[in-house]
Amino acid sequence: MDYRVSVVQFKPDFLAVFENLNKLKTMLRELETDLIVLPELCLSGYVFQKQAEVDKVSETIPEGTIFQEFCHLATEQQFSIVYGFAEKADNIYYNSAALINPDGSYYIYRKTHLFYREKLFFTSGDTGFEVFPAKGGVLIGIMICFDWYFPESARTLALKGAQIICHPANLVLPWCQQAMQTRSLENRVFSITSNRVGIECNKGESMEFTGKSQILGTKGETLLQLDEENEGIGTIIIDPKLALDKSVNTLNDIFKDRRREMYEL
Ligand code: ACM
Repeated sequence: MDYRVSVVQFKPDFLAVFENLNKLKTMLRELETDLIVLPELCLSGYVFQKQAEVDKVSETIPEGTIFQEFCHLATEQQFSIVYGFAEKADNIYYNSAALINPDGSYYIYRKTHLFYREKLFFTSGDTGFEVFPAKGGVLIGIMICFDWYFPESARTLALKGAQIICHPANLVLPWCQQAMQTRSLENRVFSITSNRVGIECNKGESMEFTGKSQILGTKGETLLQLDEENEGIGTIIIDPKLALDKSVNTLNDIFKDRRREMYEL
């Protein structure tokens, strides 16, 4: 099965949600793909200093304007879209990601492992790691940025049948892109890490994002990687069925060979 997958590298202006949305829509206008992944908190920026800033950019699902705009985009351009956003649900703020399909179906993941000062503004996610059908029935799992540091995130998604791990990110530590090679390899899944670029400053706090958004194959191989500093989109064709094969040779299968009784969990 030929399946077009795309990764977007982006630099939102802090709190300028609608300007960022318009810029993104221009970037995506000509794009022909089946699945596209955007960064974590992709329209709001990241370096929050006050809860009021989070409140200003957060939205409830499905009423939120950004969500509705992405629904239109998914239908118009006939792709599934995964994007990170600040979610407000019952007055609780989550660092979330949505999958929206061309037929209007949608699914939400709330970030499990909050990073650093995110803990001041967001509540740890309560959705757990679930697998969702994207365009064409391809099963995807979503994890957000720092979730990569916990191998259980990708492992859970893979054990539940994810063929592609969609990984919106705002990476600041230097190790993730390389570590994701292991996540893809040890689970035999594709992974798409969509990262930010640039430096964001807000009232004395500054963060630099590492770019190098990437798409990896089921053996951990880098199929596509963007650079460290520029916005852009990369698209490749994959066969998601490859992720259904967990065999290493005729005698080893990485899932069947697991010995759960030997692990302390
Ligand atoms: C991160 O989880 N945004 C580093």
